[in-house]
Amino acid sequence: MWLNRDIVSIGDFTKEEVMQVIEKANEMLPYASSGHPEKPLSGKVVSTLFYEPSTRTRLSFESAVFRMGGNVLGFGSLEATSVVKGETLSDTIRIVNSYSDAIILRHPSEGAARLASEFADVPVINAGDGAGQHPTQTLLDIFTIWKELGSVDGKKIGFVGDLKYGRTVHSLSKALSMFDVSLYFISPEELKIPKHIKREIDKKVPVREAKNIEEIIEELDVLYVTRIQKERFPDINEYKKVAGTYVIRPSLLTRGKRNLIIMHPLPRVNEIPPEVDSSPHARYFKQASYGVPLRMALLDLIFRGD
Ligand code: CP
Repeated sequence: MWLNRDIVSIGDFTKEEVMQVIEKANEMLPYASSGHPEKPLSGKVVSTLFYEPSTRTRLSFESAVFRMGGNVLGFGSLEATSVVKGETLSDTIRIVNSYSDAIILRHPSEGAARLASEFADVPVINAGDGAGQHPTQTLLDIFTIWKELGSVDGKKIGFVGDLKYGRTVHSLSKALSMFDVSLYFISPEELKIPKHIKREIDKKVPVREAKNIEEIIEELDVLYVTRIQKERFPDINEYKKVAGTYVIRPSLLTRGKRNLIIMHPLPRVNEIPPEVDSSPHARYFKQASYGVPLRMALLDLIFRGD
């Protein structure tokens, strides 16, 4: 079931499979700093092909591979690759397929990971495909909620910011709709959650949309903040209209529940000012740190099976 599996979309997972990854990530937690004693990836080579910038996803995957005794090759930008000579994604994947035992791909085009999986015999892991999906971020987000609040079921989770282009929101809201949760989408009109995603989620869990966080903050267990993604706007003037719409100030948090947690996939720009970092509600740096045990868990399942 897990052995050599492609990880392309969170929609390919059942709730039981999500929980299996979460529980394995919890087992991996101590090894995320000390290294896995069994070195399950010994002799394995994992490729990280990043056609778009990344700090957390690429480096936490690479750390996970090293912590499990494996090796990494790949690129974090395109300048030194044959992509600049016009090589297609499918050709690059065919080549890297013969150099490594798994491929981790970030690409600006939605559907790129699915396409890559058709050209590779080795497992392909989607590390973000344009405004599409970011399934490993979703798993680590669910792990964060589970670890920090003790469960996912029963929680009220609000998403704020760029819900149109934010692939982390698309993946996570779909995944959470498999749980017993209520979801809140807070955005300006221009950045609303895409209709097809809302329709899918609406059938499964209660959903509410709003324009102001103030209307909703008192109800939430989780506030998931996102950056308004300048790079995805076809027209910069449209970006300027909505930039800075939401800023999570400490005064807003005083109105939240005592156990409210603030999450953010990062990087942030100005939507969470640094004075929130010391708040007991802030979890975004811890969330990022969970990227290593979560990705170790996923690699363990893919390379060793369940
Ligand atoms: N959360 C996330 O995907 O961060 P990076 O873009 O730095 O990988």
